[in-house]
Amino acid sequence: MKHFITLLDITGDEARHILKRAAKIKKKLKEGKPHRPLEGKTLGMIFDKASTRTRVSFEVGMFQLGGHALFLHSSTTQLGRGEPVEDSARVLSRMVDGIIIRTYGHDVLQRFAEFSTVPVINALTDWTHPCQILADVFTYEEHRDCIKGKTVAWIGDGNNMAHSWINGAVSFGYRLNIACPKNYCPDPRLLDAARTLGAEVTLSASPLAAAKDADLLTTDVWASMGQEKEQAVREKAFADFQVNKTLMHAAHPDALFMHCLPAHRGEEVTGEVIDGSQSVVWDEAENRLHAQKALLEFCLA
Ligand code: CP
Ligand code: NVA
Repeated sequence: MKHFITLLDITGDEARHILKRAAKIKKKLKEGKPHRPLEGKTLGMIFDKASTRTRVSFEVGMFQLGGHALFLHSSTTQLGRGEPVEDSARVLSRMVDGIIIRTYGHDVLQRFAEFSTVPVINALTDWTHPCQILADVFTYEEHRDCIKGKTVAWIGDGNNMAHSWINGAVSFGYRLNIACPKNYCPDPRLLDAARTLGAEVTLSASPLAAAKDADLLTTDVWASMGQEKEQAVREKAFADFQVNKTLMHAAHPDALFMHCLPAHRGEEVTGEVIDGSQSVVWDEAENRLHAQKALLEFCLA
């Protein structure tokens, strides 16, 4: 059984295979050819947090693959009334063929996966967001070429997205330059683990140094879901960590800009950059659909 809890649950070759399949699946869809390997299969989608892209891409993806998806918000299931995660996992996995979960604590997802008898996919936790990296690398390679050996610059919070970019450096072999304010760095355990596995990752407090000659600049909100109360404090801490024209100019002239979205223009990125010619954020958002269809096929077919 294949869970997808972090990128490191699959090998680099498997990650590559998923992206290859994503390209084929996308082409088929654009040509209007049906591709329904999940006929008769059902995906349970548990959400403890808000979502636009993840929810819609998984639900539409399951439909296009011939299956069915059930949206299960914790506020309207017994999970939200305290039914143990372990019990919910055992019950749901007797009825559905796969489960995606978006929640706060990564341990909740891990406990769910431990008791589930069907594949469980991480649809974002406070710790990681691996589905987004599949779509992001896929998007980079659609616009440029193989990401291996290229330089990705992460500017901003050492959050769940930063963590997944770090894991992605192991799977896909890009060099990663991270620039974070001092108290908002990625978890050193995750960083050490990735470096041990051969990832080339630098960490500094200089956005300009991180962006220099980078092939891809990427960032995320300063306050993630669950951190709304820290917004004002974070705005101060991150004031010098905005992706703007100066940073884009420091990067390679061919550099792309990405953002997992939702974005806050005027905070982590200027309108000029996100709506500018180097930004590929709309393709990136669309590619959540194609990359996750390939992932669903990989885990469920
Ligand atoms: N990028 C992303 O996961 O978006 P949603 O929060 O809208 O799902
Ligand atoms: N870091 C953001 C990502 C949203 C897709 C959050 O967790 O809210």
